[in-house]
Amino acid sequence: MTVTVKARHPALGAEVRGIDMRLPMDAETLRLVSDAWMKHLVLVFPDQHITDREHVTFTRHFGDVEIFHQTSDRVAEIFLVSNVDEEGRLMRPSEPSQKQLSSSQQWHTDSSYRPLPSMGSLLHGIEISRTGGITQFINMYLVYDDLPESLRRDVEGRRARHDFGMLHRIVGSTKPTAEEQAAMPPVWHPMVRRHPVTGRKSLYISSIYNDAVEGMDETASAGLIADLTAFAAQPKYMYRHEWEPDDVLMWDNRCTVHAVTPHDPNERRVMHRTTIVGREPVTAA
Ligand code: OGA
Ligand code: MN
Repeated sequence: MTVTVKARHPALGAEVRGIDMRLPMDAETLRLVSDAWMKHLVLVFPDQHITDREHVTFTRHFGDVEIFHQTSDRVAEIFLVSNVDEEGRLMRPSEPSQKQLSSSQQWHTDSSYRPLPSMGSLLHGIEISRTGGITQFINMYLVYDDLPESLRRDVEGRRARHDFGMLHRIVGSTKPTAEEQAAMPPVWHPMVRRHPVTGRKSLYISSIYNDAVEGMDETASAGLIADLTAFAAQPKYMYRHEWEPDDVLMWDNRCTVHAVTPHDPNERRVMHRTTIVGREPVTAA
């Protein structure tokens, strides 16, 4: 089958057809997909009727797969982005797991609180929302290139801290246990990073985890992260994905941020995610 790649937005996001994730992928197709990923940052694979096992197997073409530190699911590599519990019951927004998931309504990049943050994520839409639940992505290369001088001065050569425990403070989710905190201490990453594959510079922030900026007090740090996030969140840098069932999205966590729009909590939304382990520390540009 011929593989086609079609941009969905001038800034980022492209649709890839002619791939069946249930089947083995040859080296030439893998190269084509990898090149398209580096060029478009977010790939949309429509009509992928995959099991969790097939999802994980496809993900392994690109690297090792993270095991999330908090929960153990049936397939350990699958992180559940879902408002439906194991018994099929709709969960209320006030439940701790839902509070934690609600943080993804704010701009972030996955696993940035790890010393080696994730390279990319693949999200499979199983039960999708029609009342919202649009996943939005920003091209952080373009944001970096266009940063106004004052913001550029603030981020150049500086590091920001990323702390998983921030979630508890911003959305009131369960406080990490002492063990979780010890396993996941805050980490400092450069705010301007160089992509290990493309060599391009991008702005690297993750507003749900950033709790401090080097050399700034708490108020100034929060102000800077808010200003940067507001500058980034412009339609010209953004692809908004409206889901169809069995879409699989694959995004690069090194040069994009994402946020999902709210949806009616009475509507079921079930997505399964794999996360590709990062191979290298964040390198300053
Ligand atoms: C994620 C995430 C967005 C969504 O899975 O990392 O942020 O659309 N999800 O649910
Ligand atoms: Mn996310």
